[in-house]
Amino acid sequence: MHITPAASTAPDYAMLVRQVDSILEGERDLVANASQFSAFIYDTIADLNWAGFYLARPARNGAGQELLVGPFQGKVACARIPFGRGVCGAAAEQRQTMLVPDVHAFPGHIACDSASNAEIVIPLIKNGAVLGVFDIDSPTLNRFSQADQAGLEALVAAFLAATDL
Ligand code: SME
Repeated sequence: MHITPAASTAPDYAMLVRQVDSILEGERDLVANASQFSAFIYDTIADLNWAGFYLARPARNGAGQELLVGPFQGKVACARIPFGRGVCGAAAEQRQTMLVPDVHAFPGHIACDSASNAEIVIPLIKNGAVLGVFDIDSPTLNRFSQADQAGLEALVAAFLAATDL
């Protein structure tokens, strides 16, 4: 399989972190901040088709936890994802960022929007607990570089510091 180099130059993430700090300043509500953060990412980062939250909730079958869709921008998505399933479930279970250059090559990928080709999912970890994930999809193969990963992780850290969850 041929993978082209990362599609675009990384934006100035340090500046974007300052903007997130400023947008979320004075508000700690989860729904408000998660909505604002999703809108900011979707509007600011080029070449995305979905950006938003899945939040950890008790599984409806009573076994452990699952991910429930939260505030997002993009097309209607799957509502619930078990821990361990798909890219989001893997990030939640393994507690690490999943950078996927080609979602079609990822075992168990859940196709919510057929336009998605690349994905990055960052777990929300606070006080040692996984509280959910922030999921970003792109129609462009190999869209996210290591620099994007570091920058997006810094943005999610700014969201976590500013928000009660
Ligand atoms: N593709 C994700 C599911 C969520 S949607 O992309 C919004 C996954 O495999 O976990």
